[in-house]
Amino acid sequence: MVNQNFSRGAQWLPFTPNRSFQKDPRVFVAADGMFFTTQDGRKVLDGISSLWCVGAGHNRWEINEAIKQQLDTLDYATAFQASNDKAFEAAERIAALAPGDLNKVLFCNSGSEAADTALKVALAYHRARGEGHRTVFIGRERAYHGVGFGGMSVGGIPANRKAFGPALLPRVDHLRFIHDPVDHAYYNGVEPEWDEDLLLELENRILPLHDPSNIAAVIVEPVAGSAGWYVPPRGYLKRLREICDKHGILLIFDEVITGFGRLGTAFGADYYGVVPDMLTFAKCVTNGVIPLGGVICRDKLYDAVMDAHRDSPEHAIEFFHGYTYSGHPVACAAAIATLDVLRNDKLFERAAQMGRVLGDAMHSELKGLPHVIGVRTLGLAGAVELASLPGLAGKRAYDIFMDCFHQGVLVRSAGDSLVLAPAYIVEPTQIDQMVSVLGASIRKHA
Ligand SMILES: Cc1ncc(COP(=O)(O)O)c(C=O)c1O
Repeated sequence: MVNQNFSRGAQWLPFTPNRSFQKDPRVFVAADGMFFTTQDGRKVLDGISSLWCVGAGHNRWEINEAIKQQLDTLDYATAFQASNDKAFEAAERIAALAPGDLNKVLFCNSGSEAADTALKVALAYHRARGEGHRTVFIGRERAYHGVGFGGMSVGGIPANRKAFGPALLPRVDHLRFIHDPVDHAYYNGVEPEWDEDLLLELENRILPLHDPSNIAAVIVEPVAGSAGWYVPPRGYLKRLREICDKHGILLIFDEVITGFGRLGTAFGADYYGVVPDMLTFAKCVTNGVIPLGGVICRDKLYDAVMDAHRDSPEHAIEFFHGYTYSGHPVACAAAIATLDVLRNDKLFERAAQMGRVLGDAMHSELKGLPHVIGVRTLGLAGAVELASLPGLAGKRAYDIFMDCFHQGVLVRSAGDSLVLAPAYIVEPTQIDQMVSVLGASIRKHA
């Protein structure tokens, strides 16, 4: 039953201009497949799989059924000093999907918690090996790793630095951003080929500045998602892996967006053929229905931390970290069902296939429109970037986002980029619809 009788006074909306929202609210009351129903009874095509989460499309009965059964069987059980069958099964399934010896899963509830957890594992690992001085973290400009203090610190979002800068972690540095607006403003399904070696800066400036022996980890998103879908230069991640290996630095991939199929492979690590030391995930793992996140660690991390405790009493906790809802049985049941749906319906393959349709449509329809200064597509996601209005960064894209919503398509604005990242079940006609509504709106706002 949909409740139409509520007031909007009590909720402070996250990452939303609240004043603007209250003037022109967007309230969903139902969803199925690729579409939402709004409070006023309109259908809206979900062009961003609801914040990159709903890979298999909305309202999958298989996942709903698994959740209902789990609620009737084991609703919740303490996560500390005990666990539950679904958490072990989900961990096993996720580890089996992950490449290399990424075999140990630490559960949490969100991408933010996953980022902070990974940073803490890095510190614990180095300390366990007698290298507790390795405390410097390297992130990248414009990276988004959530809203925790660790994630904000290694992230490179200027608004976070403006609002919370003084409270961020002190020993953090950042790689240069991976965008070239002149030679590589447009790319479709390929990794841009740069003449310049972006990672020379890491080798020649950042490592000598901090001394490599002090650096705990480098964390990057394989593709920069929240900033507006920026793809690294060809070979960048392989070379980053080599540099980290050379200096004993851990490499963390934040796969909150690229995990579970967005690039047409299970993980970005598979797409790029690079195995990180830790891989964080959160979106798509439960198809968005229930919060679940985690960090998949290579065996050597777990082994080192256990080994450091070989002489401790058996009741001692080896890694002092966890969340009340780590490995929640209902979330883990949803994850197992989601992984079944993704596998049975061959949705990674479908994401790759529909990604080509999306890339071609965005490039043929949006390149050349007024104020368009870039179109970037890879996997089943793409962004069109617009020149900012003088002194009003982000306004042009925000106005277009609002207009598209009124025209029945949910897109996402990120700065002055507009992002499409539909569910993997998307049909070519729906891609046409979202791209043509977006194109018409860009024209309207010329
Ligand atoms: C790469 C990345 N890391 C972390 C996060 C934070 O995830 P959450 O909002 O679940 O805390 C996000 C969210 O979009 C993300 O894109």
